[in-house]
Amino acid sequence: MVNDRRPRVLSGIQPTSGSFHLGNYLGAVRQWSAMQETHDAFYMVVDLHAITIQQEPEQLRANTRQAAAQLLAAGLDPERCTIFLQSHVPEHTQLSWIMECIAGFGEASRMTQFKDKSAKQGSDRTSVGLFTYPLLMVSDILIYQADQVPVGEDQRQHIELTRNLAERFNSRYGKAFTVPEPYILKETAKIYDLQDPSVKMSKSASTPKGIINLLDEPKVSAKKIKSAVTDTGSEIRFDEQEKPGISNLLTIYSTLTDTSIAELETRYEGKGYGALKTDLSEIVADWAGPFRERTQEYLDDPETLDSLLAKGAEKARSVAAETLAQAYDKVGFLPAKH
Ligand code: TRP
Repeated sequence: MVNDRRPRVLSGIQPTSGSFHLGNYLGAVRQWSAMQETHDAFYMVVDLHAITIQQEPEQLRANTRQAAAQLLAAGLDPERCTIFLQSHVPEHTQLSWIMECIAGFGEASRMTQFKDKSAKQGSDRTSVGLFTYPLLMVSDILIYQADQVPVGEDQRQHIELTRNLAERFNSRYGKAFTVPEPYILKETAKIYDLQDPSVKMSKSASTPKGIINLLDEPKVSAKKIKSAVTDTGSEIRFDEQEKPGISNLLTIYSTLTDTSIAELETRYEGKGYGALKTDLSEIVADWAGPFRERTQEYLDDPETLDSLLAKGAEKARSVAAETLAQAYDKVGFLPAKH
């Protein structure tokens, strides 16, 4: 690992929804899987971030295992990347304190995701952790000296904050951190809500009918695809302005089958929306079936799953501990000598 000169990437996914949905998979996890071939990749389930919103403990445990199982089922290979749980690496929260002390209150207050979420909940129900969430994320990234951070567009501001704080620390105390580049995942993989193609498919913004959960029964997903909102007219053509619903279905189809949109437009010339939806339901079912089975195999064997995660945590900690020691030293903390 020490001699690994490939660029390093780090990313994380929340364990809050049980099943991943198609937007998580096509928008992020699929790219993570491709990047383990070209990058020195670190991927984690961000269970610490999950408790910024109240979680039921048993549910959190189950969701965390389920998230890890789905990452493995999606092709993340512990031999080729480092896969772990955020709470298994205490250095993240240790570095986070330093980041809280160099970030400005105003700077943190400008994070739009915090503003949106706290406005919805009201300030009494908003935890301090939700406010400091971005600083934990900054630490997640800096502690691995990540070169790139593959995330969706909604996380761009958090990556900018990461860059600013890395630079601030480096110039104030001497260089301790790599300043990471955002690696905003391709627009083509942006998946929208089936019922409202103007919003992203996401657990917080969508109604259940607008989301395809990967662990759902094929019948349930087929029903959602068939009742997806489509556009007036009958032509199957990619046009995000005029035909956002059909364009979204084409994107899903194209990404899952590695077929170009142009090829699909030709294939469906003269055919109706119904034909596209029927075929897409089958494609989703054919893909999700084996995915569900692989996920279940990991869940049926929690010992193996936990031991894979323990190994991942060990690899992650060896990097994180080194960065933290360096940062502690630069800040002026005395070493703990025996
Ligand atoms: N905030 C990210 C999201 O909601 C999850 C996350 C936490 C993350 N820590 C990270 C992503 C570090 C990239 C790098 O999607």
